[in-house]
Order: sequence, then structure tokens, then C-alpha cells
Amino acid sequence: MAASQAVFHRESADAPLLAVRDLHTWFALRQWGFLRVGAVHAVDGVSFELARGEAVAFVGESGCGKSSLARTLLGLHRPTRGEVRFDGRSLGELDGHALKAYRARVGYVQQDPYGALPPFMDVRRILAEPLIIHGVRDRAERERRIRAVLEEVRLSPVEESLGKFPHMLSGGQQQRVVIARALILAPALLIADEPVSMLDASVRIEILDLLRGIQARRELTLAFITHDLSTVRHFAERIFVMYAGRVVESAPVDELLDHPRHPYTQALLAAIADPDAANASRLREVPGGEPPSLIHPPAGCRFHPRCPHAMAGLCDRDDPPDFEPRRHHLSACWLHR
Ligand SMILES: Nc1ncnc2c1ncn2[C@@H]1O[C@H](COP(=O)(O)OP(=O)(O)O)[C@@H](O)[C@H]1O
Ligand code: SF4
Ligand SMILES: [Mg+2]
Repeated sequence: MAASQAVFHRESADAPLLAVRDLHTWFALRQWGFLRVGAVHAVDGVSFELARGEAVAFVGESGCGKSSLARTLLGLHRPTRGEVRFDGRSLGELDGHALKAYRARVGYVQQDPYGALPPFMDVRRILAEPLIIHGVRDRAERERRIRAVLEEVRLSPVEESLGKFPHMLSGGQQQRVVIARALILAPALLIADEPVSMLDASVRIEILDLLRGIQARRELTLAFITHDLSTVRHFAERIFVMYAGRVVESAPVDELLDHPRHPYTQALLAAIADPDAANASRLREVPGGEPPSLIHPPAGCRFHPRCPHAMAGLCDRDDPPDFEPRRHHLSACWLHR
């Protein structure tokens, strides 16, 4: 364990690794001194817990706040309100040293691998950096860990890859380096934000399989973020569906995909090209329109302008709380009242 990682002491194995309460991340549109004129409500009241070793997916259309949530969990955005607790400690309480230790325990895989990698460093240097920053001074030990993680992400031949610069690698190989960098400090939590959406279709499955294998072998907690519901069934144990800065539905993966309760989730599922004729009727349920403005989100249920089941005088006025139509299945919709 690197020196700076020792700051975190594991809580009891039963306690959640990550606990998020009423999290808000707003981006000010304009600011004059203390006067703030409007804000983008990118994350707007999100709560959930992740168990140790659990793989979950956050799903929702582009612009619903997934990356803002990821970046807030990583400590890159300061929450406007609410709390993130990791291993029992609140992120807001962490000082410089503890925040550095936290960053070592949370790996991050971004959407755009080329943009994520420094262009003037070779693979060896890219992977050595986090080790140096986190106090691994012994060069031989660094080299051993770099080679081991490159074997793990199957960037082969390892010997040849070490001296390559990002532009000399394919998109899939670049993403393997990004994954290696995210793993090299042995994190407890890995956040993968649309890790395959910018890759060629031919390598997407390989990278997803790689991530899934690593998650299982290392017993990592994995938050997999995607706009594509079709990739999650073999990937996550639990799904959180996001809409306009909120989580509107969450459930174990089979339960959610086979028995979606929230009209938005039903619409998302129906929008996936479905070769099964028995499900073709669901296509009719796809509501039109665009996701709402996050500057002035609609009153009541945020989905009401697009919802085929919206009830006048209720859905357009009152924000639905989380109902539990089935055990471990939450849905923020007035239909379950
Ligand atoms: N740093 C930022 N400053 C201002 N607005 C932002 C910033 N990051 C994201 N946003 C806005 O927040 C909303 C949610 O964006 P994002 O979290 O990237 O969604 P997603 O990842 O689901 O596509 C969008 O309206 C986006 O324009
Ligand atoms: S609360 Fe109303 S508008 Fe919102 S999803 Fe449920 S039925 Fe539709
Ligand atoms: Mg995003």
C-alpha cells in the first residue's frame, strides 16, 4: 500500500463503501461577486449507497448529469449541497493529504481515452506518475507494478508498449492504458464514465469484458456510466436510471430490465431496437420531446412534459418521492402511490 493510502482505515465490511445523500451539483451561469444569476442543476438531489464489490450502472440520456455526478464523486466538483461519504468519511471533511489518499482509492476511466492521456509521455511514464505522486519511490517496484498492470489490461506485448506514446496506440489500446492508470494504485472504487462510447464498435465488447473481469477478480466496486441500456445486463448487478439531474428508478438489473416501473425507463427500453416482435408494442410508448432544461427544470415530476401517463394537477405540481413498488425496487413516480 502506498504511503498516502494508509490515511483511510476500512470501516466494517458490511458498511457501504460509498454513501451519497441528497447530492446537488449546480453550475453557476454567471456570477458577479456574491450575486449568482441562475444555475445548471446538473445533479439535483441524488441519494444512493454502493456496497463493497458491487457493480452498478448509471443510465440516462446525454445531459442528464451522469458525468457531473461522477466528477462530484471523484472530488473534482464541490457539491452545492448534500454529502458523499467514502468508507465512513465525508469528502467535505478531507484536507489536502486525506483528499490525496481518497483519490488513490478511486480510479477514473473517462470517455475520451486520447484526451485523458498526456501526449508527451510514454506509457511507462504515464503509469509511473501516480506511483511517484503517491510515494512509491523504488524504481524497481514501480517497474514491477507497471508491467503487472499492463499484463492485467492485456496491452501486449508489454515490452513494446512501455515506450509508446498515446498517438502510437489505437483507441482500444489507449483505453487499456487509461484503465491501467486507474488501477495502478489498487483502488476500491472504479468509476467508468462511458468507457467505450468513443471506441470502434469492434473493440467495445472487448473493453467491457476486460472491465467486468477486472471488477470481479479484484472485487472492486464499479460505477459504470452509460447512455446505452443495452450494454448493462451483463455488466451491472444494479441499475440507477437518471433523468434531469435525479435518479428516477433503481433496482437489481434483471428486475429493472424485465419489469421497468418508471415511464421514463420504459421509454428508454422501448427505444432500444428490439428484435423480439413480442415487445414491439412497447415502441408505441416512446414519448416525444427533448430532456428538459436543467436551468429551469419542470415543476412536479420532471418527466411530466414527455410522460404518456402524466396526471394533470398532480404530476405537473408535486414532485414524486421514491416509492418501492417491489422490494429493492425504487421508482419516483405517482403511479405507485
Ligand atoms: N463544468 C460545467 N460547467 C457548467 N455546466 C456544466 C459543466 N459540466 C456539465 N455542465 C452541464 O450540466 C448538465 C449535465 O451535464 P453532464 O453531467 O455532462 O451530463 P451527461 O454526462 O449525462 O451527458 C449539462 O447541461 C451540461 O451542459
Ligand atoms: S410521476 Fe406522473 S409524469 Fe412523472 S413519470 Fe409518473 S406518471 Fe409520469
Ligand atoms: Mg457524460
